[in-house]
Amino acid sequence: MRNWEQCYQTGETPWDKGCAAPPLLELIERHGVALWGSGPVLVPGCGFGHDVRALAAQGVAAHGVDIAETAVEKARTMPGGGLETYAVGDFLDPAWRVGQRFSALWEHTCFCAIHPGQRENYAASAAAVLESGGVLAGAFYLTPNDPGEDDSGPPFKVSIEEIDALFSRWFERIDGWVPQAAYPGREGREWVGVFRKLPQARVAG
Ligand SMILES: C[S@@+](CC[C@H](N)C(=O)[O-])C[C@H]1O[C@@H](n2cnc3c(N)ncnc32)[C@H](O)[C@@H]1O
Repeated sequence: MRNWEQCYQTGETPWDKGCAAPPLLELIERHGVALWGSGPVLVPGCGFGHDVRALAAQGVAAHGVDIAETAVEKARTMPGGGLETYAVGDFLDPAWRVGQRFSALWEHTCFCAIHPGQRENYAASAAAVLESGGVLAGAFYLTPNDPGEDDSGPPFKVSIEEIDALFSRWFERIDGWVPQAAYPGREGREWVGVFRKLPQARVAG
């Protein structure tokens, strides 16, 4: 398992591009701010919080959570508009879910960072913290490894079929496309999925 805190402490954060994920901005153009509901929007694995601040800049309260304290500390030092908050926490820990409630969740490079054996838990956490009808939208990094690169992960690859199957227990998919906007090098390697939590969805624990 990767020691995320150590990566941030030693400055080994190649995933950080210094700005919000381009597919997030494309999603906002495509669906409008109304997609997020009344807020707050959760960003699990927020890192330095660029996506959190991009959401908050749209006028919706946004909350970033990350397991790495150093990432959260740095996120808090970055200038924002006041609608963003951050916390240290383990999104996969059922104890963390208690008392959490969000109208939407934005996923970006947290899903590919967690072990595939924890994906069911990721989906359960998302379903547990979203209100009924809440939205889970994400830029899923389908092919994060370059040809010939060690693919033992993280990051871990995933297919659209696997994503659909995973979330179908608690969500219905309302949109999905390969984004035009991407960080350099990620063109055509991501997929944006938008899911709505089913009214009857229940998560134990
Ligand atoms: C590949 S980085 C991406 C960070 C950020 N989304 C970005 O694009 O800059 C994955 C992030 O997920 C965080 N993370 C990993 N497992 C987590 C968990 N169980 N709960 C919360 N954050 C987690 C890591 O600390 C790291 O910041």
